[in-house]
Amino acid sequence: MNANDATTLRLARPDDWHLHLRDGDALRAVVGASAAQFARAIVMPNLRPPVATVEDALAYRKRILAALPEGARFTPLMTLYLTDRTSVDEIRRARDSECVHAVKLYPAGATTNSDAGVTDLRRAAPALDAMQAAAMPLLVHGEVTDPQVDVFDREAVFIDRVLVPLRRDFPALRIVFEHVTTREAVQYVEHAEGDIGATITPQHLLYDRNALFAGGLRPHRYCLPVLKRETHRRALVAAATGGNPRFFLGTDSAPHAARLKEHACGCAGCYSAPHAIESYAAAFEAAGALDRLEAFASFHGADFYRLPRNVDRIELRRQRWTVPDALPFGADTLVPLAAGETLGWKLVR
Ligand code: DOR
Ligand code: ZN
Repeated sequence: MNANDATTLRLARPDDWHLHLRDGDALRAVVGASAAQFARAIVMPNLRPPVATVEDALAYRKRILAALPEGARFTPLMTLYLTDRTSVDEIRRARDSECVHAVKLYPAGATTNSDAGVTDLRRAAPALDAMQAAAMPLLVHGEVTDPQVDVFDREAVFIDRVLVPLRRDFPALRIVFEHVTTREAVQYVEHAEGDIGATITPQHLLYDRNALFAGGLRPHRYCLPVLKRETHRRALVAAATGGNPRFFLGTDSAPHAARLKEHACGCAGCYSAPHAIESYAAAFEAAGALDRLEAFASFHGADFYRLPRNVDRIELRRQRWTVPDALPFGADTLVPLAAGETLGWKLVR
């Protein structure tokens, strides 16, 4: 039977190659949702203060494991936050640690908790050199921070101003262009030479920028990089469903208390963890490409990170259900992506 007519969908268990788990009560509130869906996740280091050393990463990993619900099986893959001061020794320790799998570049000021980020990539050159030698991937938040550049153009401008020179200077550096949102980024990743991958979020596959203003301002659809025009969304769907191993799943699930998003200056980040695979299934089904979901969700990322593919399987059932309006988040609540909307697939095991 064609996968698009099936009532059950079985996939190798997927991994989330870009996830924000936070810390403390927030961590305890969200980690179980990711563990119910994914075997592993690349965990972002943008805590306050950032996860900047292997020692920080090991301690954070312990807190994540301690916060897991009874019986959950989940492997957090840790990352370091690249700063102007990241040393060559720290990169070597990361390489030898077996727990740190990548280093994240946030241009200073680009997004949530990025003020410790890199102010000038030249300052990070020794660390980047060491990463290149260690085959340690650099994960990039690909947006320029120049206030003169229109917010909808910041990703495309980043390619020319930052990514192309960076890859010229460090041609063997393994790179993941995180949460790509534009046709320009898709085309760059498709044609670039060398070792490059890209993650794609569910929100950028399901919504275009009109969704931010549908009937009024929609803060729970606001993330960075911000949603783009429909032409870009279509390019992302084509990339995700096209079978190219450079593109893989990364939710960028980024929880913020509802009151901080429904705010005069609302936080960026969409919380998609509890229904992530169902959201991707919706996007793939709409494109008539459910048979391509497994490779995108479960194979391409593991292959890029040189980790074994998962052998256990998950099962989705064709079933209409409504995403909850709100979820508990410590003393707060959390409004998930697609709250109140109907999805056509449900994870059953
Ligand atoms: O929307 C976003 N939220 N984009 C990011 O890059 C960071 C994230 C967060 O940590 O909340
Ligand atoms: Zn992120």
